[in-house]
Amino acid sequence: MKLLRTKSYINGKWVTGHRKFSVTNPYDQSLVAEVEDLSRDQCRTAIQHANDAFKVWKKYAAAERAAILRKWYELQMEHAEELAYLLTLEQGKPLAEALGEIKYGASFVEWFAEEARRVYGDTIPGHKRDIRITTIKQPVGVVAAITPWNFPNAMITRKVAPALAAGCTVVIKPAELTPLSALALAELADQAGFPPGVINIIVSSQASEIGKEMCANPLVRKLSFTGSTRVGKILMRQCADTVKKVSMELGGNAPFIVFDDADVDAAVAGAIASKYRNAGQTCVCTNRLFVQENIYDAFLEKYTAAVKKLTVGNGIDSAVVIGPMIEEKAVVSVEKIVQNAIDNGGKLVTGGKRVGAADSLLFEPTIISNAQRNMQVFTKEIFGPITPIFKFETEAEVIELANDTPYGLASYFYGSDYARIWRIAEALEYGMVGINTGMISTTVAPFGGIKESGFGREGSKYGMDDYLEIKYMCWGGVK
Ligand code: SIN
Repeated sequence: MKLLRTKSYINGKWVTGHRKFSVTNPYDQSLVAEVEDLSRDQCRTAIQHANDAFKVWKKYAAAERAAILRKWYELQMEHAEELAYLLTLEQGKPLAEALGEIKYGASFVEWFAEEARRVYGDTIPGHKRDIRITTIKQPVGVVAAITPWNFPNAMITRKVAPALAAGCTVVIKPAELTPLSALALAELADQAGFPPGVINIIVSSQASEIGKEMCANPLVRKLSFTGSTRVGKILMRQCADTVKKVSMELGGNAPFIVFDDADVDAAVAGAIASKYRNAGQTCVCTNRLFVQENIYDAFLEKYTAAVKKLTVGNGIDSAVVIGPMIEEKAVVSVEKIVQNAIDNGGKLVTGGKRVGAADSLLFEPTIISNAQRNMQVFTKEIFGPITPIFKFETEAEVIELANDTPYGLASYFYGSDYARIWRIAEALEYGMVGINTGMISTTVAPFGGIKESGFGREGSKYGMDDYLEIKYMCWGGVK
């Protein structure tokens, strides 16, 4: 594998730590690589280099930054197959899905290379006769990015591309379970010609120490995090002392509603795509499926037939559509959630257990019918291949159920009455609404949540805003 790197990347150099840790394949726990384990001190050094590089990078013309980003995008596309293979090895998702992630990830780099040229200011009518007012947008400074294991590639590019396009420099801490995709991106960034210190990647098993440094270090002016709401809250508290700008892309509890005037076949396909992507391990995965009572049985029958066809196994095998879960504690968590549902009257329609050995991380795609509000499947983010199906009668009832959660990331519904479509889309307390589709993620739309799912938007024309400050200039004496 030409892009396999095991050292971290600081100031344009590959750096060793004081020890190493193992990256394993979640399919069979085989060793993929031993990577260098960096310390908090090394993270501080990387931040210092990023701060020095910022003084240079922010002065590049937008077109110059765009050209280097474009080159990085082209290299990612050129090496897409190898990047996907590496991603499957360390993360487990099926190869076709991994390739989809690589293209999705690269598309942010392409998009923000273009957006780099469109960071416009305003002129504003002055408040007095001799006053003129203008605004310019400037990069915030050094950005720290903490990224998750479920999208080891795309969650990096979705943060880093707008930051770099804006003129910021970055220090990235990828998840310790999946650092190889991040390091491969660093290798391609090096080839693309970013000046030293503009992109830095710190791989470390000491997540909380690195997080503390990123939050406490006054040179870091912005923290962007994707991960759990629990950790997001800790990071927000830690950022308070230096009053950093923060973006938080946190957990979800997505409702997926099927009304009785929906195209049931399309709804089944949409729900499967949303629920079982990445073995249910995305923050926009359907968490609670609500089906109107008069089509409940028909829907359940078709949905069950479709779920039973999903093949679970090694992501490298082209027939597989559901790979392993990421680690043992993730499987234990879904086992407990399934048991809790059964204990509270849920009916196990299919699935419910591991595939193969007792320590296998493969989990059967599972359906629980007769799901109820008092179950963990209603309140918790499942993050696994489990579909709980709830029955509802009225529009008002399902809106109340759907919104009864502290989360507000993604939501979905299927129906055909256009007035109701508007009503539901407006009533759902979520940052994103899929209407007659289960796939909402795209570079061109603003991804992000409300409530305890976080704030800030990634992708789209809004995605640069989080990395820019607005400066206002008041011009006096204009006689
Ligand atoms: C996530 O799960 O954090 C991101 C999912 C996506 O971009 O579709």
